[in-house]
Amino acid sequence: MPQALLKPTSYLERLQHPGAVLAPMAGYSDAPFRQLARRYGALWAVSEMLSARGVLEGGSKTLELGQPYPGEDHLVIQLFGADSLEVGAAAAEVERLYQPQGLELNMGCPVPKMRGRGGSCLLQTPELAAEIVSSMVRHTNVPISAKMRLGWDTNRALEIALALEGAGAALVTVHGRTKAQRYEGKADWDAVGAVASSLKIPVLLSGDVCSVQDARAALALGVAGVMVGRGAVGNPFLFREIAGGKPATPLERLKVALEHAELNVEWYGELRGLRQLRKVLIGYVADFPDLVEQVKRIDTLEELRVKIEGERAEG
Ligand SMILES: Cc1cc2nc3c(=O)[nH]c(=O)nc-3n(C[C@H](O)[C@H](O)[C@H](O)COP(=O)(O)O)c2cc1C
Repeated sequence: MPQALLKPTSYLERLQHPGAVLAPMAGYSDAPFRQLARRYGALWAVSEMLSARGVLEGGSKTLELGQPYPGEDHLVIQLFGADSLEVGAAAAEVERLYQPQGLELNMGCPVPKMRGRGGSCLLQTPELAAEIVSSMVRHTNVPISAKMRLGWDTNRALEIALALEGAGAALVTVHGRTKAQRYEGKADWDAVGAVASSLKIPVLLSGDVCSVQDARAALALGVAGVMVGRGAVGNPFLFREIAGGKPATPLERLKVALEHAELNVEWYGELRGLRQLRKVLIGYVADFPDLVEQVKRIDTLEELRVKIEGERAEG
């Protein structure tokens, strides 16, 4: 990686350490999960995407998505939008409000409601994506990154990534699928490796990194680092493993399931915090089939505590 391009205090320096980055995942990469990911060794964490327009309108639901937990120190906030001035202004506003270590442009979201409004649509217009990145660079004082897919329906990744680099992006993450593939099939890691070997800035690989072996194989392609998304849901210990630590025991998983629930309740309140965590708790308690069924209906922290402590006492 070209060291000269890294600002001395940049969060990107963390790429020199072993480990992985927490991927942005709408509905998952919230403050409680980011806190656990960092505790277990994530190099940094990217927030769920925030609509640039929502930020500028001051929408509390939008702004909540980027709010750091107290003491959060390696946060990149992701924005989506399709207007360079709007995204630039939103980036400045988010920087003022939350002082993240970096800001990122979303170029991968395939959700239909975003059609024509940014996200993966920007893969069809690399020149507009570059203009937006350049506006974000001009409006802020932190490194700007972009997270893209290989292309809309064919692999144009190199052309797109070069445009982003030319616009001043400090890092590009490539999810090794086209928009048309959504989440189907295997991510094409070789295509991401090819981008990494042609860019001067660091390139992260995203897509199907679910184990230490996956992370090693991906890094062997010459990328500067890997992002982990779905593989870390209910399993933040994967960051520790990728950084060289040990896998979690079933009992440790139970303990941290409860901690995650406590963090969620603190952040969102009890009912909302637990209902939206049910899908995640299933991952933590996968070794205990009875618990899997019970967490699908969990509504109170006390109920969860009793069930988990009961299981731990037996274990
Ligand atoms: C539920 C879900 C929400 C996602 N939300 C975002 C998002 O807000 N921004 C983004 O750039 N990518 C988003 N992604 C894509 C992931 O960051 C990642 O690139 C993709 O899931 C492939 O990596 P994985 O196999 O490690 O999950 C999302 C993926 C999932 C499954």
